[in-house]
Amino acid sequence: MQEYTKYMADRVKTMKGSAIREMFKRMADPEIISLAGGNPAAELFPGEELSKIAGKILMTSPTLALQYGTTDGYPQMKECARKRAEKVNSVGENDEILVMTGANQGIDLTAKALLNKGDAVIVENPSFIGSLNAFRAYECRLVGVKVEDDGMSMEELENALKTNKNVKMIYTIPTFQNPTGVTMKLEKRKRMIELAREYDVLVLEDNPYGDLRFSGEDVPTVKSLDTEGRVIYAGSFSKILSPGMRLGYIVAPAPLAEKIEMLKQVNDVHTPMLTQLMCVEFMKKYDIDRYIAKNRELYGKKCAKMIENMEKYFPADKVKWVAPEGGIFIWCECPSIEDITPVIDRCLEKKVAIVPGSNFAVDMFAPSNMFRLNYSSATLENIEEGVRRVGEALAELL
Ligand SMILES: Cc1ncc(COP(=O)(O)O)c(C=O)c1O
Repeated sequence: MQEYTKYMADRVKTMKGSAIREMFKRMADPEIISLAGGNPAAELFPGEELSKIAGKILMTSPTLALQYGTTDGYPQMKECARKRAEKVNSVGENDEILVMTGANQGIDLTAKALLNKGDAVIVENPSFIGSLNAFRAYECRLVGVKVEDDGMSMEELENALKTNKNVKMIYTIPTFQNPTGVTMKLEKRKRMIELAREYDVLVLEDNPYGDLRFSGEDVPTVKSLDTEGRVIYAGSFSKILSPGMRLGYIVAPAPLAEKIEMLKQVNDVHTPMLTQLMCVEFMKKYDIDRYIAKNRELYGKKCAKMIENMEKYFPADKVKWVAPEGGIFIWCECPSIEDITPVIDRCLEKKVAIVPGSNFAVDMFAPSNMFRLNYSSATLENIEEGVRRVGEALAELL
């Protein structure tokens, strides 16, 4: 086999793949209970409805569905995205909407449009690995800011803005953050906007989980508090309809949207027409908010089940967590140890998969005593059994 590293671009040499994707490879074993991924509950996918819709589209509008489409998105799909964003007051006067092949692409192309090599991006630490890797790929510096129980630390954010050169943007997942599950309180959101103005940087708000609240009160999006066009907003249909359809969107001030659109043209020309048309028809025929409400109810139940069993099976006082009010994740810390890796390995021996905290850290190579649990995809029975096995591993090793 050739030695290929010498051919590789510097920007990919140090990139480390997601531990979750690696774990997925091992998860061909049907006995493994996964509390690792971020998959929505498959039992609620509207498969029958979507199969009828897809069949009808291909019978009645084959050319539209199978021909090239426009880069910014099928007009009615753009309207669907607009409706979702307007519901949370997240479309400004001068904004354009672009349909994206998942929010992932929107985040990647926004980063591509904004970041020069060596620029700094301030991120929550920990944060979503997909975005962190996108920023890493543009050879920028990631500056991590700790996440508190009510969201990113504003003191640390201010300090990071003060002490780092060439900060272009702040990337935040303020609602039901991935991986911590926590939500940034309103005062902090307002402060973030003030700081962005003071230090003249942009904010990229990523909000794929905002619709999935099962307790507590909604908090306005950061975008809705922005009066200066500083916030770019990324939305997704992955967690409210289907991730496999790969539908997301970006709401951005027109001059930025124009550049992002050009980059999308290079990247994949346009988002697949068939899934855009399916989403449009689904939203015409069915009340998507009712469908989302069913998801919320189920996630509330699954989260309660997980916490009930964490209380029952995790060694007392050895694991700390914050109960989320929505979303799909619970973040756990084990203060008595430095490195969670042996626990993760013991869990895999017991056929349950969880994700180590290092996967979401700005410094992926530093040891972490944290891990992330997901409650959306496993059944209620598997949540109980999975948490029991994690509890056993923790009891053996802590
Ligand atoms: C915080 C966050 N942003 C973006 C995404 C990607 O969403 P999409 O499926 O729309 O690309 C995810 C997916 O897990 C996520 O957790």
